This record gives sequence, C-alpha cells and structure tokens, in this order.
Amino acid sequence: MKAAVVSAFDTPPRYRDFPAPVAVRATEQVVDVIAAGLHPRVRSQADGSHYTSTGELPLVPGIDGVGRGADGVLRYFLLPDTTLGTMAEQTLVDLRRSIVLPEGSDAVAVAAALNPAMSSWVALRRRIEFGPGQTVLILGATGSAGRMAVQIAKLFGATRIVAVARNAGLLAALPALGATETVALADTARLGTVAAEVDVVLDYLWGEPAADALAAIVTARPDRGKPLSWIQIGSVAGPTAAIPSAALRAAHLQIVGSGQGSVATGDILAELPALAAAITAGAFDIDARPVPLSEVERAWADAPRTTARLVLTP
Ligand SMILES: NC(=O)c1ccc[n+]([C@@H]2O[C@H](COP(=O)([O-])OP(=O)(O)OC[C@H]3O[C@@H](n4cnc5c(N)ncnc54)[C@H](OP(=O)(O)O)[C@@H]3O)[C@@H](O)[C@H]2O)c1
Repeated sequence: MKAAVVSAFDTPPRYRDFPAPVAVRATEQVVDVIAAGLHPRVRSQADGSHYTSTGELPLVPGIDGVGRGADGVLRYFLLPDTTLGTMAEQTLVDLRRSIVLPEGSDAVAVAAALNPAMSSWVALRRRIEFGPGQTVLILGATGSAGRMAVQIAKLFGATRIVAVARNAGLLAALPALGATETVALADTARLGTVAAEVDVVLDYLWGEPAADALAAIVTARPDRGKPLSWIQIGSVAGPTAAIPSAALRAAHLQIVGSGQGSVATGDILAELPALAAAITAGAFDIDARPVPLSEVERAWADAPRTTARLVLTP
C-alpha cells in the first residue's frame, strides 16, 4: 500500500510503498483511512522530537483519523504509539480506541477538528468543575486549538471569553467565534485589567508569555480568594515557565495539566462521541483543508504557513 513514510527524522515524509497491516487480535481491525489530520503532535512524531519517540524508523506518522473497516462502519480512531500511523491507505485500529461516526459525517472536518477541539473540551469536562456562568481566558487563542477553545467555552456557557494571542489580524476574527474581549499578548498591563477576575485559563503557550500573564492576572486580582484554575494544555512558547512561588501562596490558584496521561484514555474516549456529534452537527467553524496523501511533502511545507488544519486524504 501507499503511505507517508519517514525514513530520517531530518527529512519530511515521502509518499512510498509500505507493508499493509494485518489484524491479529480480536479487538483489531484494518481500516481504509479516509482522512488524517496534520496536527502539531504529528509533526513532532515525524521529526522524532516528541517525548514518546523511540527513534524507530521507518515510520508512518499520524495519531488519529477517520476511516472504514471491512464491517463498513465509519469510525474516528486514536492510535497508540506505533510506527504505522494514520497517514497511509490503511492502518490498524484497536476498536476500543475508536468511536462510530454517524453515516454522512464530514470525515475531513472530523479529522481536522477532533484533536484541537478535544484539548479544551476534555480540559473543561475532566480537569476542573466547569459550568455555565464562569469566565474563561484563552492564552494562544489564534491556533486551531485556541479557536476551537473559544467556541467550546461558548458552547459550555461561559459568559466572558477573553482571547489572548500575538497575531493581531487573527485575534480580530475571534469575536465572530464567541470571544467577548481580545487582548494582544504583549499588552500585559491591559491583560491585568481585562482578566483580573477570570475563573479559568486555557493555556496553549506556557514559557515566558504564560509566566508574564499569570503574574499580571494574579497581581491585579481584586479578590485573591476567588478560585483561578490555570489549565496547561500546550507549550508552543516554551517547555518551562518561571512561575513565582508567591503567585501560588497569594492567590487561590491551582495549576493543572490536561492531556493524555493526566486524563485517562478511557475518559478522553468517553468525551469523544458528544464532541464528534457537535462537530458533525456543524456547531463549530472549522478551518480544514484536504490534501491528497500523494502530496504529503507539499503538505509538510505548507502547514506552518497556513492557519487551516491540513488533512491528508489517501
Ligand atoms: N493537551 C492536549 O490535549 C492537546 C491537544 C491538542 C493540541 N495540544 C497542543 O496545543 C498547542 C496548540 O495546538 P494547535 O493545534 O492550536 O496548533 P497550531 O494550529 O499550530 O497553532 C499554534 C498557535 O501557537 C501560536 N504560537 C506559536 N508560537 C508562539 C509563541 N512563541 N508565542 C505566542 N504564540 C505562539 C501561533 O500563533 P501565530 O499565529 O502568532 O504564529 C498559533 O496561533 C500545541 O502545543 C499542541 O500540541 C494539546
């Protein structure tokens, strides 16, 4: 079969022949892949920089996708760490890590949106007690995950949604998705004013911007006893952040992470049917662009230059 194959970590995947999978266990099924998202996590898998990388090559990247097996059922699936990912004509799915999609679902939209959307959906459902009437700040709101977070916070009944990012042009588009306020990332003084009383922060950045934002918000908080839940989700601005110890003592601040590991796989899977239903019902504005699998090298070059989530279609 054809697949996107990584033969060296310093070279993008190439469209090549790769051995087709064979199901061995009763819980496994070979599926024909219809759509696989090129998420940031997939890029780090393909260049060997992700912490789960074992260094084993060759490898087919892709951590999730939409496809159909011999039973004819349309499914979204999450793969475990494997050298046969989803960017192939076929892959091997553990049915326990899959959900059935309604017939007629837009496979490209689902493959584009489920990974970025689950970051905030799972964080708000599984890492804190969140309910209508609460207020949310999204740090790094202009990426695929940040834009979905704005819409998911709105869906979950947030009354204020403060969107913070460095790209002014993209930030200006977020009120149309549900942001009630936007703040330039560099404007920490305004951040302190606008977000002093926020209940939850969904943090996609970490690094220096997160440390600066946290200090600005905690310092400006009129009621230091009011709970502030800081949920660490992504680290595009840096793997470490210098959080002042005083921030944890002087305010009712809790910092938690959300992702695979901090949320059990079963709990993530339990959230996916409702999220997939919202996606297929058209609840969200999704910026997805399909690219034929045979053009995987072009997709790799284009991905950093576009705000759309690229989706490879075998
Ligand atoms: N834990 C989870 O469950 C989970 C799930 C999905 C994703 N994630 C993580 O969430 C993060 C975002 O994912 P995504 O799909 O939204 O990626 P994406 O679409 O590539 O967006 C990345 C965003 O980060 C911004 N950015 C990059 N470097 C920055 C910096 N130094 N300072 C400020 N902003 C910066 C970019 O802004 P510009 O437009 O200004 O370049 C862009 O808006 C990634 O780290 C991803 O691994 C976590």
